[in-house]
Amino acid sequence: MSTAETAQAGLNRREFLTLAGVAGVGLVTHGLFAAAPAFAADPLEMAPLPYAMNALEPVISARTLEFHYGKHHAGYAANVKKMVPGSGLEGKSMEDIVKATAGVAEKTALFNNAAQCWNHAFYWKCMKPGGGGMPTGKLLEAIKADFGGFDAFRKAFVDGSVGRFGSGWGWLVQQGGKLKVVSTSNAETPLTQGATPLLVVDVWEHAYYLDYQNRRADYVNAFMDKLVNWDFAAANLK
Ligand code: FE2
Repeated sequence: MSTAETAQAGLNRREFLTLAGVAGVGLVTHGLFAAAPAFAADPLEMAPLPYAMNALEPVISARTLEFHYGKHHAGYAANVKKMVPGSGLEGKSMEDIVKATAGVAEKTALFNNAAQCWNHAFYWKCMKPGGGGMPTGKLLEAIKADFGGFDAFRKAFVDGSVGRFGSGWGWLVQQGGKLKVVSTSNAETPLTQGATPLLVVDVWEHAYYLDYQNRRADYVNAFMDKLVNWDFAAANLK
């Protein structure tokens, strides 16, 4: 393939994947363009959702995920790709960009978009069809030790997430050998606060408004009871 043909193939691949990402067929496109290592190595590429758009129904509708993943998350990712060239952070992972831009006044826009990408990628993995209930093993023991029991943890997580004023995130984190519930505002993330995220719920209105309107508590309770992927949370324990 000539240089010009290679460049054209790259453009077509990007255009196609932009469309395909919204349709959730990223794995198919990966196979189609398997001979294109430059794309596969892009550290800023959005991972496909770990389930189908309708897999979390009726708790979270396909319509919500189509907008949330396909428009909101994709929009943040597109912004990062536009902002990285010339920033001195070319070739870095999303996590590295978040850490490098936190608290840097002239890089606030890049931080906000990169942190939203990281937070969303983490959030998708915190859910699964038929999830919820309680963790087991080491994570359950740690929750009992640090919160006094699963019900006390659950109340702290739900209250903290529902009570976050405005847009943000509710987290279970590990910090200094202890588990804690924290909430962050807008794009802020415990990644930059010396904590290890274990679980997160997105409490921006775009995460629940189509399904629950103003009833954030109903959404957070349904997330806890029916969606949490406790195996993922447990795997994040250090
Ligand atoms: Fe979101």
